[in-house]
Amino acid sequence: MRIGVPRETVQGERRVALVPESCKKLIQAGYEISIESGAGEAAGFPDSAYLELGVQSQSDPAALVGSADLVLKITAPATGQAGRDEVRWMRPGAIYLGSLMPLRNLEAVRALAARKITAFATDAIPRTTRAQSMDTLSSMANISGYKGVLLAAVELNRYFPMLMTAAGMVRPAKVFVIGAGVAGLQAIATAKRLGANVVATDVRPEVKEQIESVGAKYVGIDLKDSAAAGGGYAKELSEDDRRRQSQMLVDECAQSDVVITTALIGGVFAPRLLTADTVKTMKPGSVVVDLAADGGGNCELSKPGETVHVGGVTILAPLNIPATMPFHASLLFSRNLTAFVQAFTKEKTFQLDFNDDIQQGALITHDGEVKHARTRDAVQKAGA
Ligand code: NAI
Repeated sequence: MRIGVPRETVQGERRVALVPESCKKLIQAGYEISIESGAGEAAGFPDSAYLELGVQSQSDPAALVGSADLVLKITAPATGQAGRDEVRWMRPGAIYLGSLMPLRNLEAVRALAARKITAFATDAIPRTTRAQSMDTLSSMANISGYKGVLLAAVELNRYFPMLMTAAGMVRPAKVFVIGAGVAGLQAIATAKRLGANVVATDVRPEVKEQIESVGAKYVGIDLKDSAAAGGGYAKELSEDDRRRQSQMLVDECAQSDVVITTALIGGVFAPRLLTADTVKTMKPGSVVVDLAADGGGNCELSKPGETVHVGGVTILAPLNIPATMPFHASLLFSRNLTAFVQAFTKEKTFQLDFNDDIQQGALITHDGEVKHARTRDAVQKAGA
């Protein structure tokens, strides 16, 4: 079977879906691999590193995609953007594997179904122990949490750590992390390593202990209705809980130098947690880093992809942070995809098995239909 790896072409994207280390493993498992010329260049993996392993380099993306049984990508396949129509180039019956983010990419989902592609989204993989090594959401969220704190530290007008200097002592910065999933816990750990005092909140009950285990103080309200939606995902708070949480957020933000927000509902959409009035209570010089910008943003004043200054507060809403750390982002993403492919390889062939819980969860389109229930509902709703 042939695996094809096209170049990523979304603006600012510097990652590549397969790195040489993974190519070696997949070749050993019996696959042939073609990669679009220059696909790994921006991530630090030149063509030569692939060629020496026996990977074929292909400069014509249509020929590359058209000859592949499995197309591996970081992002959703292109559907005509900048002259690339990767979905149309794919052969009916071929398999796409990547972070499709189906609910954010309904047009690509429709095109994949119409072209009879079997599409697996790594972001829809069930959160089970067996699937952990395939989970691109966790790998990428870890990078966002880490980098988000560094961005805040660069922007902040003060030190993160407490310092004893000849000119006297300076107090540590106070960092408040909202949403302590994968990105939030990494943000806490990174801010702690830089010496800040860290406080964090979440709405899933099990997270208090996790926050404390990475060295932060937990703050939160007693929720009247559970916000746990299963699988580590949260659902929206009831009106009453939202009101009480919002007062707690105002109190904490007013005392913080840095606020890092990472909250998502169902892993996809960002609840609005920081209002303009909350930002108004913050100290001049303080910084908000909205790590939920890809999902629309947790702060009312965030402009996804931009930095804004409001009343002395700087609000960053960076998009696609993992692309800014493309070497490790590619390495980890590639390991996740490779774990997925290897798990279902028998006799040098990728086996479809929709009774398997991982394939079942990750399957978005097959044989002309949208198979993933939430995505099917969203496609129908958007069509209507
Ligand atoms: P996510 O990206 O969907 O959400 C981020 C965080 O925001 C979550 O912790 C969520 O509870 C929180 N949140 C949502 N609404 C909020 C609000 N109004 N206020 C404050 N916080 C709010 O979640 P993520 O980071 O992808 O995963 C969350 C958890 O799922 C992980 O901590 C882990 O326990 C579990 N997980 C398990 C995996 C596995 O076993 N294979 C893989 C990935 C995650």
